[in-house]
Amino acid sequence: MIDIADVVYGLAWGDEGKGKVSAAMAHQYDWVCRWNGGPNAGHTVWVDGKKHKTHIVPSGIFAGKPCLIGSGCVINPDKFFVEIRELKQAGFDTSLVKIHPNVHIITEAHITHDKQHLGHLGTTGQGIAPCYSDKMLRRGIRAIDCFASDWIWNGEMSGKILCEGAQSVWLDIDHGDYPYVTSSTTLPYGACSIGFSPKRIGRLIGVAKAYDTKSGVDPLFPETLWEDPQIDALIREGGEYGTTTGRKRLANWLNLDKLISAVQLSGCTEIIINKCDVLQRVGVYKVFHKGELVQFKDLGEFKMYMVREMSYGQIADLHDIRFSNSPETI
Ligand code: IMP
Ligand code: MG
Repeated sequence: MIDIADVVYGLAWGDEGKGKVSAAMAHQYDWVCRWNGGPNAGHTVWVDGKKHKTHIVPSGIFAGKPCLIGSGCVINPDKFFVEIRELKQAGFDTSLVKIHPNVHIITEAHITHDKQHLGHLGTTGQGIAPCYSDKMLRRGIRAIDCFASDWIWNGEMSGKILCEGAQSVWLDIDHGDYPYVTSSTTLPYGACSIGFSPKRIGRLIGVAKAYDTKSGVDPLFPETLWEDPQIDALIREGGEYGTTTGRKRLANWLNLDKLISAVQLSGCTEIIINKCDVLQRVGVYKVFHKGELVQFKDLGEFKMYMVREMSYGQIADLHDIRFSNSPETI
């Protein structure tokens, strides 16, 4: 019996630092589970001063917790085993990782199709959309068809679980900036596909960033922004290069209107705004709000504005806003 499921998810276009947040919380839970996406995701987690990168294994691995790759995920077996090997070499207990039998398998044909036909959408080239297409066409191959039984989840789970989102609200297949989205449900209600009632959901912890970035193509983030020296400084100071693709990310000042919509749409109960130190290093503090670019003199003013505009009571369910820094600086 699952008692409670808390959800950590992204409020923007990914790369907000969800991995860091869920890794820090994982020790409080009995299981850590992914519900969507596959090797398109890239989580960077720092443990005892060492940097680790994961794509499919939930961050619970760093806390020695059982981890489930849920039925809504897609998996590339070769990449999965590379990740498992790296984690094992780094000293983590990889026998804790379990795969739901219904997880769909990414094949070479999916990857080829993605690279040949979906480049204009700026995909990660990992075969995500073709794999989910075959799932929907009901002709896909699943984990149960090709993984040895040691890896397959036996259906047992109880206690408190942490659900770890991949990608984010504006990459959601139903609510994101279609077609510049991914092919799964990134909104936290998708976590129920792990196999529990919506009534079990407790905290909805939305992770945002002090500025916006988008990995890949999106008309909301024109490439001309790269020519702006302040935006360029955000990318440089924030290390905004893809964990999965190595691509330089598109960046812009935080769009507070979009952030508030994401909070409302997802029913966020708590927000964490990451990478505030990057604004400090760049020394410029701006947000888009109500269609205007608002500038502040320092981080204190920036924070005060954010808290005032999203303050408790104005947005249903939201009762906590916290600010944080890049993981390397903690
Ligand atoms: P796909 O998921 O590879 O099909 O890519 C679709 C879009 O989602 C592209 O714009 C990707 O850059 C973006 N995307 C997919 N996964 C992530 C992620 O984990 N972080 C940030 N962007 C992502
Ligand atoms: Mg990422």
